[in-house]
Amino acid sequence: MKVAVFSCKPYDKRTLSSHSDNTSLSMTYFESRLSMETISLVKGFDAVSCFVNDDVNADVIHLLKQQGVSTIALRCAGFNNVDLDAAKAEGIKIFHVPDYSPTSVAEHAVALIMTLNRKTHRAYHRVKEGNFALEGLLGFNLEGKTVGCIGTGRIGAAFCRIMKGFGCHVLCYDLYPSQTLIDQGCEYISLDELYQKSDIISLHCPLNASTHHLINTDSLEKMKDGVMIINTSRGALVHAQKAIDALYSGKIGYLGLDVYEQENKIFFEDMSSHIIQDSVFQLMLTFPNVVVTGHQGYFTDEALNHIAATTVDNLLHHQNEESYARQLA
Ligand code: NAI
Repeated sequence: MKVAVFSCKPYDKRTLSSHSDNTSLSMTYFESRLSMETISLVKGFDAVSCFVNDDVNADVIHLLKQQGVSTIALRCAGFNNVDLDAAKAEGIKIFHVPDYSPTSVAEHAVALIMTLNRKTHRAYHRVKEGNFALEGLLGFNLEGKTVGCIGTGRIGAAFCRIMKGFGCHVLCYDLYPSQTLIDQGCEYISLDELYQKSDIISLHCPLNASTHHLINTDSLEKMKDGVMIINTSRGALVHAQKAIDALYSGKIGYLGLDVYEQENKIFFEDMSSHIIQDSVFQLMLTFPNVVVTGHQGYFTDEALNHIAATTVDNLLHHQNEESYARQLA
């Protein structure tokens, strides 16, 4: 089976090669994203593999079908960038990697909390310049604080367990409460109550019609003044301009983002010699109490290997025409 791998960085190529060598898969690696502009690259391939910011819309899917592509193997958990209905209509099979390392993303959410709280991003630069003054670096103890987790699936559950370990009171909201988390001492409450009671709110639900711009003027109004908001899920869960307004007013005291609504134009690339054409994003970076990372929550050795192994496994199962649990459409 010939596979065109899109959005492929050197680290992806290393792990995918090590897992697909000595199999019947023939992988060709492209740095570019799959979109209408790059669709001509798929000529002669049986399958494509994509990542979070490839634009797998209905038009792309239609052309994939015309080119003879029979499957799309996503190398990520989220699938909001794929038109599943169009894939189903065209008879293209979609696979994803549902649980490559919930711990990786959960630990990154905690890293953002710790950085924002103890201001290590600022301390690092101060100490390098010989400035050992502590004014402006005051943090707070996590023990005893109330942490709200929205979405308690694989990543949210891992996050809740870590925060319980810090001695936090963990409040949860999910459409499907987890008895395991309740048994571990977490408490499910309504979304409004979670907003009202939490010192820290971490987002771990998927992006869909009901969660789009979940963090907006209405929800922010219900939160404590100075709340910390962490988003490692999908950028469009947060209305960026409303978050900036709330940073100016002090409603948001700390903002940690690993994802951004318009990230597909900038993330995963070296933009250091370019002028980033996004004034909202540029403004966000100027706040001392905002930490942004470039969608690296998943980026651990363990997760990369799991992604590669599962992607290869998905393609081989498709080749053998077995129906499979990781098949989305
Ligand atoms: P999951 O499917 O295991 O859990 C998602 C949970 O959200 C489920 O329990 C579901 O019931 C809940 N949910 C759905 N709609 C909801 C709503 N309206 N309100 C509250 N809860 C709702 O997914 P998993 O693996 O935990 O991943 C969560 C998200 O994390 C993914 O959708 C993806 O967007 C993001 N992600 C980010 C990565 C990164 O590198 N930053 C890497 C992997 C995933």
